[in-house]
Amino acid sequence: MDVFHIEGPVQLFGTVRINGSKNASLPVMAATILAGGRSYLTGVPNLSDISVFSKLLRQLGCRVTRNAKRRLCIDSTVIDNPVGEYEIVRKMRASVCILGPLLARCGRVEVSMPGGCAIGDRPINLHLRGMRELGARIHLKNGYVIAEAPNGLTGKDIFLGGPFGSTVLGTANVLMAATLAKGRTTIESAACEPEITHLATCLNKMGAKISGIGSPRLTVDGVRQLHPAEFEVIPDRIEAGTFMVAAAVTGGELKLQNCRLEDMMAVVDKLRNIGVTVEPDGNGCVVARNGPIKPANVTTQPYPGFPTDLQAQLMALLSLADGNSVIVEKVFPDRFMHVAELNRMAANLRKEGPAVIVAGVKKLIAAPVMASDLRASAALVLAALAAEGTTTINRVYHIDRGYEKIEERLNPLGARITRESI
Ligand code: EPU
Repeated sequence: MDVFHIEGPVQLFGTVRINGSKNASLPVMAATILAGGRSYLTGVPNLSDISVFSKLLRQLGCRVTRNAKRRLCIDSTVIDNPVGEYEIVRKMRASVCILGPLLARCGRVEVSMPGGCAIGDRPINLHLRGMRELGARIHLKNGYVIAEAPNGLTGKDIFLGGPFGSTVLGTANVLMAATLAKGRTTIESAACEPEITHLATCLNKMGAKISGIGSPRLTVDGVRQLHPAEFEVIPDRIEAGTFMVAAAVTGGELKLQNCRLEDMMAVVDKLRNIGVTVEPDGNGCVVARNGPIKPANVTTQPYPGFPTDLQAQLMALLSLADGNSVIVEKVFPDRFMHVAELNRMAANLRKEGPAVIVAGVKKLIAAPVMASDLRASAALVLAALAAEGTTTINRVYHIDRGYEKIEERLNPLGARITRESI
């Protein structure tokens, strides 16, 4: 198991290129199931989650090869085992997005029911509701969801909102299943995240007929079959946001290349309120902070609101603000595993239900801390860059799931991070 030793405080300066998005890659990899033949995805990041999903596709019968550093070839000509095994689903919940495409293509699918994870319960009731509305019969057996539609799926008007608003992977699942359903499907309260817009655009490239892309009402006119295609994965807006906070928390200046500010307006707006400058520059931006960190109130929401996937990182930044902030988590109300760890680094955070009161402190102090999930660990790295002394972060495999060799990207900018295998 690897640990990070991070010496701080440092200031970061330089240029970094943002990688393709993990959360945009995974649903498109699942979508290739819908069309027999070879699809190509470029800009896919080299991450453990992508390897795990590739393994899952191979178990279904697909051939998956990485024929250049960031280019995947997925040959879905043969799908002879439409089963998402527990061993893979328990490692990665996103595996559940094979449900819709396998049901549409094979008429039957078994997927291990995902359990909870460090960020909350994470039910899949909305995914299942969507499949039922399209005509699937669903039952649960030995921890597996078994969905059957031997005579195919039929389009329907489906309301997909839940207690916390829209669902990203639930929308992906229903959207993919509906592309091959008979007739028209309308998904109301669909997720509008850029990753869903990207998926819908890729599906249309495969021959699907989806309109309303980017809005909360998606209309899908079912087609008889889809064909393979080539896709370019969009830049990772959460990785970009993490580097923006890295510039801000260290009082440095970073130029981000391959970053779509139009997908990040809530983040950019919040950072500017906090005293961070974000200026568009070519296909990216320049992010810097000179003055004090101003306190702010932040509420996470589905897109276009402030993303839950940057809540922990922003908390690390606001820990050093000149005053008190309130962060409310409205997507995953229990996503606060980083609070206790940041407090070990001398932050002053108090959890109150689905909110955290952040009393700004003058400085953070290094400590041994534990990574609990992907974004929480990113927040610890950010805090460690600004903290006095050497922070040791345990269980960095969490960060490797979503950030490609983060230490090799931060060190050239002025960070002092060493990875040790213990
Ligand atoms: N929800 C339900 N029922 C469902 C599905 C979701 O009640 O059937 C609830 C969830 O419990 C949560 C809310 O709806 O309260 C939103 O969850 P959503 O379904 O949108 O989350 P997801 O699709 O499982 C994706 C990302 C997450 C990201 C969320 C929210 C991927 C692979 N995962 O998860 O990313 O936090 O959307 O934006 O795209 C991460 O990258 O670190 C990560 C966790």
